[in-house]
Amino acid sequence: MTQPDGGRGGDSLAGAEVSPPSAGPAVPSGASFQEMWRELRPIGRRPDSGGYRRFAWTGADVECRAWFKAQAEARGLAYEVDRNGNQWAWLGDPGAGDAVVTGSHLDSVPDGGAFDGPLGVVSSFAALDELRARHVTFARPLAIVNFGDEEGARFGLACVGSRLAAGQLTVEQAHRLTDGDGVTLPRAMEAAGYDPEAIGPDPERLGRIGAFVELHVEQGRALDLSGDRVGIASAIWPHGRWRFDFRGEANHAGTTRLVDRRDPMLSYAETVLAARREAQLAGAVATFGKIVVEPNGVNAIPSLVRGWLDSRAADQESLDTVVGGVERAAREYAAAHGVDLDVVRESFTPVVEFDHALRDELARILGKDSGKDTDLKVPVLGTGAGHDAGILSGSIPTAMLFVRNPTGVSHSPAEYAAEDDCVAGVTALADVLEGLACT
Ligand code: GLV
Ligand code: MN
Ligand code: MN
Repeated sequence: MTQPDGGRGGDSLAGAEVSPPSAGPAVPSGASFQEMWRELRPIGRRPDSGGYRRFAWTGADVECRAWFKAQAEARGLAYEVDRNGNQWAWLGDPGAGDAVVTGSHLDSVPDGGAFDGPLGVVSSFAALDELRARHVTFARPLAIVNFGDEEGARFGLACVGSRLAAGQLTVEQAHRLTDGDGVTLPRAMEAAGYDPEAIGPDPERLGRIGAFVELHVEQGRALDLSGDRVGIASAIWPHGRWRFDFRGEANHAGTTRLVDRRDPMLSYAETVLAARREAQLAGAVATFGKIVVEPNGVNAIPSLVRGWLDSRAADQESLDTVVGGVERAAREYAAAHGVDLDVVRESFTPVVEFDHALRDELARILGKDSGKDTDLKVPVLGTGAGHDAGILSGSIPTAMLFVRNPTGVSHSPAEYAAEDDCVAGVTALADVLEGLACT
């Protein structure tokens, strides 16, 4: 399979960053963490907003991938790209089985933060460096992975790389994924220098993995409120994306009487308010964060308003209630304005309960009964955010570590984690990998 090398990031803009290690890192991993962070930081960063646009298979993604490959090679790890474009860096024999894998993703949402995804990948390499500095002996193969297209910003479906590997996205469905410019996923992979011919389920590869642990910046304030640097994931809320197409009639904004209009913007706007209402009633969340308007002219009544609903809830019943309620309301509003409505569920991820045995093992390794001299408390947290670890949890034992985010802000340039907390995350991940993979 072809693997483009791409180039390294260009400018040296500051921004959402971990400050330089001038005061000296707290642990050996700090230095390598800082260096990696500095290298990765400019790639795909917009000077105007400070946010990242690292969409799957675009130039910025290819640059991130080149960075990953360079990190693997600099450490003498065996680098490979799997049939779905996910990148792997192996220490030990990939074919031996029962491997311990860590990693995350490098792509971003539109104007995303620096930490969602990259913190997990950078921390994985830094944790490996720390393990080497500890002179541990590895009893199981270890791999670091960068899953492709986790955010789904370009093709509308999240976790494409892990879904394909786990057989949760069929080849036919993947071939139909199309971006806003009409480019299909296979053509986008090809344009980035990757071979899309072999995409599909990868049970043999997943069968060689005994445990996957993903470190991630927390996307909420639970750790900030509890005063802890690091937490362990318990579960991921069920969540999905629904596309609402409101179709009316384009007409002149100045000459069309109000009573003569079939304006889909009105029913869309009322639906946004209904989503808020339904979510509030159910203790859930519902968001219309993306919209396409046609013809998109200031002085034209729209012919089409297409909005995407992202909804998540603690349990399936609440999620069904919210989405059912929003759809019912949307149909009433559409009828009232003479507008046609189509609703399509574009993706869905059921509730994920992370593997209890692995979770308990992480808690034991990091907790007070580990026998180590540590005051690290490790709360166990649920989350409303989706992750590759959640997708893979149906195929292999998976677990997640969260690193404190003082404001809880994520999917925004303001996303942040403090340097000390990132270093604590690296140490926790190194401890976990040592506990799982070393003698
Ligand atoms: C990914 O971060 C998601 O939760 O949508
Ligand atoms: Mn994300
Ligand atoms: Mn993420």
